[in-house]
Amino acid sequence: MTTTPASRTPAGGMPVTSTLVTGIAELVTNDPAHGGRLGLLTDAAVVVSRGEVAWVGPAARAPAADRRVDLHGRAVVPGFVDAHTHLVFAGDRAAEFAARMAGERYDGGGIATTVAATRAADDATLRALLAARMAELRAQGTTTVEIKSGYGLSVAEEARLLRLAAEVTGETTFLGAHVVPAGVDRSEYLELVIGPMLAACAPHSRWVDVFCESASPHAFDGDEARAVLEAGRRAGLGLRVHGNQLAPGPGVALAVQLGAASVDHCTHLTAADVDALAAGHTVATLLPGVEFSTRSPYPDARRLLDAGVPIALATDCNPGTCYSSSMPLVIALAVREMGMTPAEALWSATAGGAAALRRDDIGILAPGRRADLAVLDAPTHLHLAYRPGVPIARALAGDGTPAPRR
Ligand code: NIG
Ligand code: FE
Repeated sequence: MTTTPASRTPAGGMPVTSTLVTGIAELVTNDPAHGGRLGLLTDAAVVVSRGEVAWVGPAARAPAADRRVDLHGRAVVPGFVDAHTHLVFAGDRAAEFAARMAGERYDGGGIATTVAATRAADDATLRALLAARMAELRAQGTTTVEIKSGYGLSVAEEARLLRLAAEVTGETTFLGAHVVPAGVDRSEYLELVIGPMLAACAPHSRWVDVFCESASPHAFDGDEARAVLEAGRRAGLGLRVHGNQLAPGPGVALAVQLGAASVDHCTHLTAADVDALAAGHTVATLLPGVEFSTRSPYPDARRLLDAGVPIALATDCNPGTCYSSSMPLVIALAVREMGMTPAEALWSATAGGAAALRRDDIGILAPGRRADLAVLDAPTHLHLAYRPGVPIARALAGDGTPAPRR
């Protein structure tokens, strides 16, 4: 990649306000105005200005800009939108992972290990861990990330995790209802979550989420989940749900009924769940890195697509069920293991994630939208699934310049 001032660069000292990104062999816009779901353009260019897309089209018709970045025949896609992560935590659970690979089942019990390590870490430690993870995901092409709390599980600790998350993203989610902490009475904990904990966390949160799972003794049933979501809504938060991860259960139906933006996991669905999703306004966010890392059956993406359900793909990056921040890995798994086409998977990892966050400024490259671009060291988007495990994707900075490799 080369960056050169164009002949019309303003005189020395003037700030650069627009960048022409050219040499794009294939541009995925997700703008149906260009045809098809992905809105593909070949031999394309993009002008970015003040953090927004100013122009998109064939390179031959590109307008002049203050500066020019030549990508030399690479593909450009909208930056990935990772709409489900748990990035604020300390410690790791590699031993739990190894035990699982030796045959043990996942039931959410290991979350307590992360809660202990996270509570013991001071702000500076958590901030440094979070910064490293943010750099890691940008280096793999992610430009928007949602971050949940859920490893504090007390009023002060949940609020602390959300304050730290809000330093790096606007997409913060209060997940005090992750599990009932060991030694705490269930109904007392629920009262705490929907009362003082919600009050302390809402100012730092855009969303509320709940781990609704009948198959986990640590998580919440349908009635408990409804109480959490309704309280969150009264506090002005949007709704998200962890549902149907380990077994069929009430999570999906509840999410649709309450108009949640997204219900996540959706691994075990009944026909009624699929019908409800198809008729409702809730995105199904699939997290195949979890099935990979817990050696579980994958969700049936084809069934959802055939029913017309909007799908997002996200990492769920967390120390228990998927310690990967890689959206390209998720795309490769969705294609190889869940029957999605490369185009469907890429759409779900970008525009689908934007829909799951109810955002229309990201996930699409069109004039006026955010200049969130990822460049691939490859000529087409097909390589995301075709070259699994090879680090071909990285985010461009908002001014159109290539981010350094890590
Ligand atoms: O999305 N399902 C619940 N929460 C996380 C796992 C958290 C953990 O095991 O630490 C998930 O898979
Ligand atoms: Fe999760």
